[in-house]
Amino acid sequence: MAGSQSETGISVSTTRDRTIEALITLLLQAEEACQRFYLHLMEAFAHEPTAAEVWWMMGADEAGHIRLLEQVLHSLSPEQRQAPADPLWLEQARSAARFSPEKALARIQTLEDAYQEAHALENSEINAVFEFVMTSYFPKSLQRSFVLNLLRTHVGRLEGLRTPEWRQSVVVKAS
Ligand SMILES: [Fe+2]
Repeated sequence: MAGSQSETGISVSTTRDRTIEALITLLLQAEEACQRFYLHLMEAFAHEPTAAEVWWMMGADEAGHIRLLEQVLHSLSPEQRQAPADPLWLEQARSAARFSPEKALARIQTLEDAYQEAHALENSEINAVFEFVMTSYFPKSLQRSFVLNLLRTHVGRLEGLRTPEWRQSVVVKAS
């Protein structure tokens, strides 16, 4: 990434890329990509109401995650935003932000494909980073179990997509 050099020779943008603000911004990008992904799936499976509703609820959960993270970002002081973030969490957030809904959607032919993609996404770094940010920076002190329950309910919605046999029989709507 191109960074302007300050007088001290330290790359300004590189330093900024390693802040708490950068960490939360990367996570927000990832959550927004998830929401786009699920809303596209809702359209792609609109002809199968059970599936469409699961995708709608998944997308609505992502909207909730985005809202919570925006609250976190707004509650931080400038000093807190510019504080350095743990490089390991930053790397996980970068990895989560690399998720491309378009590429994932291009791989999906059946509801089983969609289920597998969603499962992989929900088991990727994104929820671990979300849990870390929420428990560390949410403006009210929050029990970790609340965040874990929120995520468990979210991922649990995928079980509404019944059996592999049924999922394999449901094909995406021809666009
Ligand atoms: Fe999420």
